[in-house]
Amino acid sequence: MSSSRIDLNGCKNGSCHTKCNKEARAKLSEDDLCKDVKSVCDSLSVRCVGKWAEKKIYLLYQYLGIFATGMKDKWSEINYIEICSGPGRCINRESGEEIDGTALAVVHHPAFQYLHKAIFFDYNPVVVEVLNKRIEAIGLTSKAIAQRGDYNNPESICTILSQQCSTTRSLNLILIDPTDCSVPFALVKRIKKTLQNVDFIINVATGTDFNRNIPMAFDDKERAAKYETFLGDTTFFHNAINIELYRNRDYSTLRNKFREAYQNSMKSIGHTFFDLNMIEHYYDILFAASHYKALEFWNKAKAIKYDGQRELSFE
Ligand SMILES: C[S@@+](CC[C@H](N)C(=O)[O-])C[C@H]1O[C@@H](n2cnc3c(N)ncnc32)[C@H](O)[C@@H]1O
Repeated sequence: MSSSRIDLNGCKNGSCHTKCNKEARAKLSEDDLCKDVKSVCDSLSVRCVGKWAEKKIYLLYQYLGIFATGMKDKWSEINYIEICSGPGRCINRESGEEIDGTALAVVHHPAFQYLHKAIFFDYNPVVVEVLNKRIEAIGLTSKAIAQRGDYNNPESICTILSQQCSTTRSLNLILIDPTDCSVPFALVKRIKKTLQNVDFIINVATGTDFNRNIPMAFDDKERAAKYETFLGDTTFFHNAINIELYRNRDYSTLRNKFREAYQNSMKSIGHTFFDLNMIEHYYDILFAASHYKALEFWNKAKAIKYDGQRELSFE
């Protein structure tokens, strides 16, 4: 086992207020981009995050290293694709520490050299512009690019993917990282159809969005429609067992049923190897692959414990 240190380029940002509550954040930020504070590294925008965001970035970082190193000689093309990329730098709203977000963590990763392309999608043009400036500053525009893309429009995202990636010879790691359960399953399905060989890491807001809206969704067709679109399944809110669980206020079992329904949709497109990581009580990081080898890599990545020391081991 060799050891490599994770460097998310952390540094203290003295301009961060550090005490912003929900109301202050609503005033001070737009789409979670802080309007007051700029990065101490490059004076560009930063995304305001909770302390738990770091765990997701570590998990991705760990998996990317093991996956890209393990697969580089087996595929002529390995691509990393992110839906909901953010601007590349985050700031911890409690400590004021600034770190690389998922996108910059990927492009700064030593295993980035094994990737053919990294394509980042976000619907916010400011986010896309900022991330592209950051990619340009590190001289990686030939391999990495941020593009405008709305997850509600799978067709436009997949048109870009089929222009940038081989649709037959590539292995692709897809991170979908939204803040709620609004990403339609149709996007997941369309990406799978376009690129064929894909593994997904999906942030599922089970603990926040779904949890808060369960009672309303059972009584409100419009609200239920959002989760049905997310699940790619129109039966969840009509299922007799689920209705009973709702009536008994057994929300914990209902959350598990919701997770199960999502995994069933994944199975319907050929993804049968799963793992679920709960990031505190906020969200799940779902790993879904169509090959057991990917799950082996994932389990290895997970075994490297997040210890706050940014210590990683690779075989
Ligand atoms: C949780 S943040 C992403 C954080 C980032 N992956 C990281 O960890 O550094 C969610 C992002 O989704 C973007 N977003 C929201 N709605 C979207 C949509 N319909 N299509 C694409 N991106 C969207 C937001 O602009 C925001 O940057």
